[in-house]
Amino acid sequence: MKGIILAGGTGSRLMPITSGVSKQLLPIYDKPMIYYPLSVLMLAGIKDILIITAPESMEPISRLLGDGNRWGVDISYAEQPEPRGIADAYIVGADFVRGEPSALILGDNLFHGAGFQELLRECRTMTRGCTLFGYPVADPERYAVGDVDSEGRLIGIEEKPAHPRSRNAITGLYFYDSDVVEVARGLRPSARGELEITDVNRAYLEAGTVRLVELGRGFTWLDTGTYRSLLDAGQYVQVLMDRQGVRVACLEEIALRMGYITADECHALGAAMSQAGYGRYVMETAKALA
Ligand code: G1P
Repeated sequence: MKGIILAGGTGSRLMPITSGVSKQLLPIYDKPMIYYPLSVLMLAGIKDILIITAPESMEPISRLLGDGNRWGVDISYAEQPEPRGIADAYIVGADFVRGEPSALILGDNLFHGAGFQELLRECRTMTRGCTLFGYPVADPERYAVGDVDSEGRLIGIEEKPAHPRSRNAITGLYFYDSDVVEVARGLRPSARGELEITDVNRAYLEAGTVRLVELGRGFTWLDTGTYRSLLDAGQYVQVLMDRQGVRVACLEEIALRMGYITADECHALGAAMSQAGYGRYVMETAKALA
């Protein structure tokens, strides 16, 4: 299975913060935003990852992440010349996906919760249809919203409805079978001139091949598209660190736990950042798990 992180866009809702730097490089407490979606793909066991960026972000993002080798994964890059919608990831990434199932995650989504890794692994084994993740939110009009029948089956999806039919947002993590490129190619741009991921999901819904997984109230899904949500996400990560001593989305720790790198390799990665609390955490984790 392949993985795509969509890290394009202009970050217009976060200007002027994003006027000089790509949104996905902004800090969520102790690490850049893009670490969080990357950690999700790594936890899913996906090692072949394409990052789609705006042209001006390609250099700084690739300087940060490189080829992924130090975490035992293979990262490549593609440019999205202008924001053309989330489903455009499958036009830009068509050759990369090449007839395989894939997961797509938005570069500004943060997922965290018990049992998530097992859930992701299970999704990885699905080779037909698509899997979407629902999450109850207080402000559903900001997202795609799923309409579910009395048996929990998804019966409709609307993108940013003015009058949402439920509180069930559809998160920015999607698992698709190999048909998704053809589905994306068949889309017509929406009124705002974009290829909407919600239209892709509707096509799967009409084909009867959507699975909706509800992420319950014990789970955390945050997006970071506004000043407030950016700060909330950073504080969430800080609270967990202060209280439990864990660092969410520590790529070195995940690579070690997944068996992609050895404890010695992990320790060396931490030692290179030993002036930072993050680096010292990586070194301690490597020692604890050796
Ligand atoms: C996008 C999608 C929306 C989804 C959301 C999740 O919205 O269009 O369907 O619910 O991401 O973060 P955006 O954040 O680009 O406005």
